[in-house]
Amino acid sequence: MQEIRHLSLACLLTIALIGAAQGQTPSPDARASETEQKMTDDERFSLIVSLIGAVPSIGVPRDQRIPAGVNMSAGYTPGIPRLGVPALQSSDASMGVTNPGYRPDDKGATAFPASIVVGSSFNPQLAREGGVAIGREARMRGFNIMLAGGINLARDVRNGRNFEYYGEDPFHSGVLGAEQVNGIQSQQVISTLKHYTLNNNETNRHWLDAIVDPNAHRESDLLAFQIAIERSEPGAIMSGYNKINGDYASGNHHLLNEVLKGAWGYKGYVMSDWGAVPEWEYALNGLDQESGIQMDVRQWGAEAFTDRLRAAYAAGKLPKARLSDMVRRILRSVYAVGIDTWGPAPAVDMARHNDIALAIARQGIVLLKNDGALPLATNRPLKIGVVGGYAQLGVPTGTGSGAVLPAGGYAGSVNIGGAHGAMGATRNLYLLPSSPLAELKQLLPQAQIEFDGGYTPAESALLARRSDVVIAFGIRVEGEAFDLPDLSLPWGQDAVIDAVAMANPNTIVVLETGNPVSMPWRDKVKAIVQAWYPGQAGGQAIAEVLTGKVNPSGRLPIAFPESLAQTPRPELPGIETPWGTPTTIRYDEGAEVGYRWYAQKNHKPLYAFGHGLSYTSFDYKDFKVSGGETVTATFTVTNTGKVAGADVPQIYLTDATGERRMRLLGFERVELVPGASKTVTVKADPRLLARFDGQNGLGQWRITEGTYRVALGKSAGELALTAEAPLTARVFGK
Ligand code: BGC
Repeated sequence: MQEIRHLSLACLLTIALIGAAQGQTPSPDARASETEQKMTDDERFSLIVSLIGAVPSIGVPRDQRIPAGVNMSAGYTPGIPRLGVPALQSSDASMGVTNPGYRPDDKGATAFPASIVVGSSFNPQLAREGGVAIGREARMRGFNIMLAGGINLARDVRNGRNFEYYGEDPFHSGVLGAEQVNGIQSQQVISTLKHYTLNNNETNRHWLDAIVDPNAHRESDLLAFQIAIERSEPGAIMSGYNKINGDYASGNHHLLNEVLKGAWGYKGYVMSDWGAVPEWEYALNGLDQESGIQMDVRQWGAEAFTDRLRAAYAAGKLPKARLSDMVRRILRSVYAVGIDTWGPAPAVDMARHNDIALAIARQGIVLLKNDGALPLATNRPLKIGVVGGYAQLGVPTGTGSGAVLPAGGYAGSVNIGGAHGAMGATRNLYLLPSSPLAELKQLLPQAQIEFDGGYTPAESALLARRSDVVIAFGIRVEGEAFDLPDLSLPWGQDAVIDAVAMANPNTIVVLETGNPVSMPWRDKVKAIVQAWYPGQAGGQAIAEVLTGKVNPSGRLPIAFPESLAQTPRPELPGIETPWGTPTTIRYDEGAEVGYRWYAQKNHKPLYAFGHGLSYTSFDYKDFKVSGGETVTATFTVTNTGKVAGADVPQIYLTDATGERRMRLLGFERVELVPGASKTVTVKADPRLLARFDGQNGLGQWRITEGTYRVALGKSAGELALTAEAPLTARVFGK
């Protein structure tokens, strides 16, 4: 009895102590300012730069300032042990933990599908699960910062890095990007959101001036960042390479100081991209940390935030308060995300991570067209010809800093050459070892499957003629430091597919690209599957979709134009010039990016934003909409087909007080068995119904009173039900 009394007393005491400690736990801001005050100037200056590790493939030697024993990665900043500040170690990023030659002994990471595949899943929960897995794989290597969360909008279908982003819509990109960050940061690993902002083309990216109307910018690319920041509080924002309206992103006083830190009240820190800081003065304009300082030496001839910034400080040109602010912002994120209180790294289950990669691919593969050819019959001894795409080896992945070396290595790697800058040397066709051919053979034991490499149209046509059905693969290498001049498939693949389709009308095409392509053969084939860069389990997911083991549910997060003539910029400025040519790109479409542009211009794209077919069918009913401060829509979706599947009903604004204006207001991925229904409610973020009015000072969002037309659709091009909602006039937010 006495023992029990003692125990309960001890318990009470512990609870009281924990409570007191909790009550007194200082905020990350308070801790940051306390630590910063104890620092010497040398310590302050040490925290505001990072060094890139040795990258033999692009000729970056080991920097002697990185101590022996440090695991090489994209960024290293020494810690301050006497104050409990850990070293900062950053790695790329969104598709998994990368290793572009830094760590010869690293056994490889999970190569997740590209972000555009996550975007196609329209599944925020899955984006989060992917983030958790990436965070764990980072932690196990000692990396406490992931350079993930790429949320530039796909403004241009030629942009080499669109696969690293989620799509063309700010709400959708903001929501999915936020969940990747939330997943990573849940593992006590800081994540960035990048590349702030308008780094939407790679052509001459270090010399590219992106011109945009400031209000339209707030309603598009900046809105994606604003939404993602609100939902995930990323520890860092990475500024891009380009200029915006004349000022470089990394030194853009308006966008960093006034918008990000001012209007939005962002409390974390801004790190530059690698080789994006020509001037020390960027410290005055809002940049808090210079990344990969050796890359600035290569790009601009000198480091910015070491000797030059120290000299400016000594001369009184960099105020002490600003130096303190830079340091405090970094420390705040260290404390807010908890990278200073790591216990043992959580266990990493690589088989489970492969399952997550597989789930993303299954949900992100988009069935674009199906004239009854899919799913393939599994119970007949079909003669199947598989053509091209190195399908006997694996699936391609995007190239550049985001490419992940999988466990066991690539199934193939071919240097293409011809790209530019530091990343030019790594413009490679990388094949992840997940062979669609092998997976098809496994799922179709009754079939006779023959492979043809797609070497010439004539040769491929021979196999097509003797097959019952042909599955032709089309691949493309896309990546960092180059845009694609057009929408064709390289290496004559369009001609091969055309020849195959002419020889056998029962042809199915699987595209593994990071962007829309033109598909000149599209009317000659029975089905088209957009598999993007589907990651290390991509071959399996492709085979499962083709055979109906998985019911496709991906939806396009980027519209596929008929041709470049339909897009805002049929000609891409600077594409014809040598790398390094100052280039101006006018994003005159403003906020009318992608599907918004096509709606405004009355263009019918080849495949609309949000489009994706299924092996079942869905019906919508009871569409009700209410107005007031924002639009709230309710409806019921029913699986009216014969197999289970997932639908992604989408709510759009189509007209605002008589003005044609297309905006995705919300979506939900709904899984339903045949006959089942679900009632869904979508409440729109009012900024999607507003215009940004930058006239008075920094501006606010403004809703004009009147009638707003709203539609429930299967895609931006297939609106099923419409309704009207009255909205009240108001000015709000920042
Ligand atoms: C890319 C960034 C990347 C950085 C570090 C740059 O080339 O633009 O996205 O995080 O390298 O590897």
